[in-house]
Amino acid sequence: MTPPFTGGRAPGALPIAGHALPLVRNAVEFLASLSEYGDLVEVRLGPTRAHVPCHPELVRRILADDRTFDKGGPFYKKARELFGDSIGTCPQSEHRAQRRMLQPAFHRGRIAQYAAVMQEEIEDLTRSWSGGQRIDCYATMNRLTLRTIIRTQFSAHADDETVEALRDAFETLSAGFFQWMFFPETLYRLPLPAHQRHRRALAALRGTVRRIVADYRRDDEDHGDLLSLLIAAGLGDTQIEEQIMTMLAGGSETVATTLTWALYLLDRHPEVADALRAETDGALNGRAAGWDDLPSLPLTERVVRETLRVQTPAWLFTRATTVPVDFGGVGLPAGAPILISPPAIHLNPQIFPDPYRFDPDRWLPEARAAMPRGAFQAFSSGARKCIGDVYGLTEAIIALATIVTRWDTAPVAGADLRPTPLMALNVPRRLHFDLTPRVPLPTTQPAA
Ligand code: HEM
Repeated sequence: MTPPFTGGRAPGALPIAGHALPLVRNAVEFLASLSEYGDLVEVRLGPTRAHVPCHPELVRRILADDRTFDKGGPFYKKARELFGDSIGTCPQSEHRAQRRMLQPAFHRGRIAQYAAVMQEEIEDLTRSWSGGQRIDCYATMNRLTLRTIIRTQFSAHADDETVEALRDAFETLSAGFFQWMFFPETLYRLPLPAHQRHRRALAALRGTVRRIVADYRRDDEDHGDLLSLLIAAGLGDTQIEEQIMTMLAGGSETVATTLTWALYLLDRHPEVADALRAETDGALNGRAAGWDDLPSLPLTERVVRETLRVQTPAWLFTRATTVPVDFGGVGLPAGAPILISPPAIHLNPQIFPDPYRFDPDRWLPEARAAMPRGAFQAFSSGARKCIGDVYGLTEAIIALATIVTRWDTAPVAGADLRPTPLMALNVPRRLHFDLTPRVPLPTTQPAA
């Protein structure tokens, strides 16, 4: 039976711009505030009306029914320009086959192998730092996660030039990703410098990915990784490139954002940071964390989950109705855009009391068991749930545990934590850290 969900309308829409202003100023805050107005709240993107579900059961139902609520809406029009009809952007009718094709690269046994690469990468990064060094946190974490994904999914050598080319391209493509969605489309036909930068970044990204594939094919060896699966499935070059771009985008910036926020939140919550250090110091004794350490790092995992709740990286994705629907009183026509914004649930005080309080113990097993279904949507849910959720959690836990046990990270004055406006992910505008070593690092890395 459908519960009587309540409909509502976000206040403050302007005649042409709709809700563009609050969305540019601080979109996450705006979307998180919507639960006040109902379970399904109408917002205006320029002249377009879209709906944001703010009730966990409603979000869960929408995401569980991918025939009625297919990928679509303004977000995917843009995403398809980049990723074509690859796994994250294809319609429901093509999705099952693609998911089946790629799933073997994400089996548990594979993640255990990838964890060895994650451990090597965080070992190298935390060893390369020196006391007194200042880092741009997000850029540093993004290099780390890009290197890891290139090595684990494409068995490719993650040389600095390739990593930097990809990072530059993604930075430009992610920045302002949602602009065109919130402003009238005519603006985007103008030959503005931002559009030229976008086109150049896209060409650079395609060129780098093409080179990765060409090098791989020359090697002529089956590495048993994701790229081997794509080649074995007989995909054409363009389809292979689009799947690779999807994995690079999905698997690097998300984890980098999580790590950036986790380090910041730990600085703001010294009691959690102390408890975390007690755990990581005891479990690792100065080593870089690996797969076998995961069972000894339960608080690290809770810190990562709580970070994903309070500062959700993928703050917006969309669906569109394929038929008219009725949510017990609130009706939508076919083709209606739906904005799924996890912060609308994660920061809803009815679901998570005192929602802005950072409390990793919300993720203790008994508290988790009491959470309403659909309450945690950082990885989405249903058939399109993130394929890399275990990979991403594993990488974030390994990296965070190693960083906090080896280094103190203190935010530099002048941080600007507002989300970079209309960027694809919830990345703070400016956050740099000063580094101080906590322990002399072991001279060799013993096996984990
Ligand atoms: C903390 C890390 C991560 C977060 C927060 C995250 C978030 C998400 C979300 C919200 C979606 C669903 C979007 C939708 O329903 O429209 C998604 C899908 C996806 N993610 Fe992730 N992700 C993470 C890590 C990763 C990693 C590590 C990879 C790859 C190695 C990855 C690859 C993908 C792919 C391929 C999809 C599309 C799945 C499908 O449609 O079947 N993600 N991710």
